[in-house]
Amino acid sequence: MKSPIRVAVTGAAGQIGYSLLPRIASGSMFGPDQPVILQLIEAPFEKALKALEGVAMELDDCAFPLLKGIVMTSDPAVGFKDANWCLLVGAKPRGPGMERADLLKDNGKIFIEQGKVIDAVAAADARVAVVGNPANTNCMIAASQAKRLTPDRFTAMVRLDQNRAQTQLAKKAGVDLTEVKNIFIYGNHSPTMFPSFAHATIAGQPATSVITDSAWLQGPFLETVGKRGAAIIAARGASSAASAANALTDHVRSLVTPGAVHSIAVKSNGAYGFNPNVWAGMPVRTTTPGSYEVITGYVMDDFAKSKIAATNKELEDERSFVAEMIK
Ligand code: NAD
Ligand code: LMR
Repeated sequence: MKSPIRVAVTGAAGQIGYSLLPRIASGSMFGPDQPVILQLIEAPFEKALKALEGVAMELDDCAFPLLKGIVMTSDPAVGFKDANWCLLVGAKPRGPGMERADLLKDNGKIFIEQGKVIDAVAAADARVAVVGNPANTNCMIAASQAKRLTPDRFTAMVRLDQNRAQTQLAKKAGVDLTEVKNIFIYGNHSPTMFPSFAHATIAGQPATSVITDSAWLQGPFLETVGKRGAAIIAARGASSAASAANALTDHVRSLVTPGAVHSIAVKSNGAYGFNPNVWAGMPVRTTTPGSYEVITGYVMDDFAKSKIAATNKELEDERSFVAEMIK
């Protein structure tokens, strides 16, 4: 049996937390032979901490063989102590009529403190995955606080967008979704994101030769994927939770699986024309568990270039908006 890894989760008593924790404790995230200690961090409010106790009771009642301990705290210095993975979910979700960027001033400050504390107390091999919105910019804020942990350790989630895009392409083509491959998300986790359909394949063929309706690809497809979060809020009255927890499970699982190719938001190195100071979604390949290289070989046509320029501009604007939060 491997020794347990420590997985810190913020917002553990929230909606996403409720769907996420059983996925981690059951082995879906780190594999069926990897024991875990969950370090659950909640906001310092009685209601949240009481709810967290209930969540921990339920985890106990699941009798997960891989779950070797539960820490519950509102103190980030305790919660992130020696953590190998820090999953930053805790933040305010948007409500109807809001854009994710509307959360920046409220949520951004959470990530200043968490970035600092993670850098001070987490394990030497710590990896950070940010879900709390606006995820790309919150990730940038957290990473900017770190001196010990390099920026590549900080990733933000665009996997939900990748999963959404995969399903929409499969439905349009009338194929099983496992036939859809290489659909990657570029840029911001916002309506400006660009799912690059020109590089996707369906049953081994270019997606654009299977779905020849380019007006659909350039219009309703991008719109549906980009605005899916708002559609769920409108329908459910609350933001996506089960699918977000599932996407984070996929994000981390792919990051610990050498050879896996998937979309994550990482510090741009200038690839695809992104400003090197923003965190942008792009395709990566896992090299060793927790590490990755950006796949830079995809050639963009003029349509894709204009979409990438727009999402890059939005990321630059978000960066300017929180300039005082960046170290
Ligand atoms: P929620 O309100 O149900 O839960 C959030 C939890 O975070 C609450 O329990 C709250 O007490 C806690 N929290 C707040 N501040 C905290 C802090 N400083 N430290 C620790 N915990 C803290 O919200 P949710 O539905 O679970 O969503 C959480 C976040 O994830 C939101 O910002 C939402 O917009 C975002 N989200 C992102 C994606 C994505 O694809 N990136 C998808 C879905 C949701
Ligand atoms: C999503 O994409 O479902 C989440 O980011 C929640 C939201 O605000 O849309």
